[in-house]
Amino acid sequence: MKSFIVFCVLIYQAIINSVFAQDVYEQALLLKSNLEHGKNSYKLCAACHLDNGAGKKNGSFPVIAAQHKSVIIKQLKDIQYKHRDSPTMYPFSDAKTIGGVQAIADVAAYIESLPDLGNNGLGSGERLVQGKALYLNNCTGCHGLDGQGDAQLTFPRIKSQHYEYLLRQLKWMRDGYRANSNPDMLDLIKNMSDLELSDLADYVSRL
Ligand code: HEC
Ligand code: HEC
Repeated sequence: MKSFIVFCVLIYQAIINSVFAQDVYEQALLLKSNLEHGKNSYKLCAACHLDNGAGKKNGSFPVIAAQHKSVIIKQLKDIQYKHRDSPTMYPFSDAKTIGGVQAIADVAAYIESLPDLGNNGLGSGERLVQGKALYLNNCTGCHGLDGQGDAQLTFPRIKSQHYEYLLRQLKWMRDGYRANSNPDMLDLIKNMSDLELSDLADYVSRL
């Protein structure tokens, strides 16, 4: 009888855990954020993304300033769970390194609050007509006319991102190296040439 009760308690706990204990990233999405605390945690991130969140023009580190909080949290989660391969970011997407659920909510809100300085790396500017046509025909449905994305739907803000970073991500997605890619987006870019992806990246970097 005793072992049966222990068994029932264990089953009960397992059910409760799976239903209510959403992972820390899901929980962080629902919390109110404290920007001051976020600023403090952000010191960890500034080493690469810089104090103003502008990253590097050569695209080694992306602009994260002004990105939607929901998108930041989703990316941290995807990187941590290896849905997105990013070895450099891996230790910094760990909830424990960042400081727990509240710290994730705070740092993501702080990053979202950083102004977009628009001082990002650009492409050659030689094929903006082609880039614009490709963008308007394929991308505005999710990322918007101005590249703002959609916080509710976790469509990333891509405007004024570094050209080199955009191009790298587009190629990685097309070539199957970014597991968390959006399948509908993938359909649109899977047959595009390097030149077309470059046209798109150049146009988007100037939005
Ligand atoms: C050691 C350098 C480094 C540190 C420190 C770092 N990052 Fe990153 N981060 C990167 C790199 C590199 C990438 C781009 C990865 C890729 O190309 O896929 C990235 C990508 C990201 C992205 C995805 C951006 C996008 O547009 O999809 C987010 C969000 C992010 N970092 C947030 C953070 C946060 C929050 C911290 C601090 C807790 C942090 N990073 C600390 C190097 C770093
Ligand atoms: C059906 C909606 C949809 C369409 C259409 C779409 N995207 Fe996306 N895009 C997404 C989503 C969702 C993500 C984020 C995937 C993830 O979670 O990593 C994304 C990610 C990206 C990223 C990576 C952003 C980052 O910060 O790492 C780039 C760049 C991008 N899209 C460019 C484009 C371009 C250019 C087009 C047009 C050819 C396009 N997208 C069309 C939904 C879409």
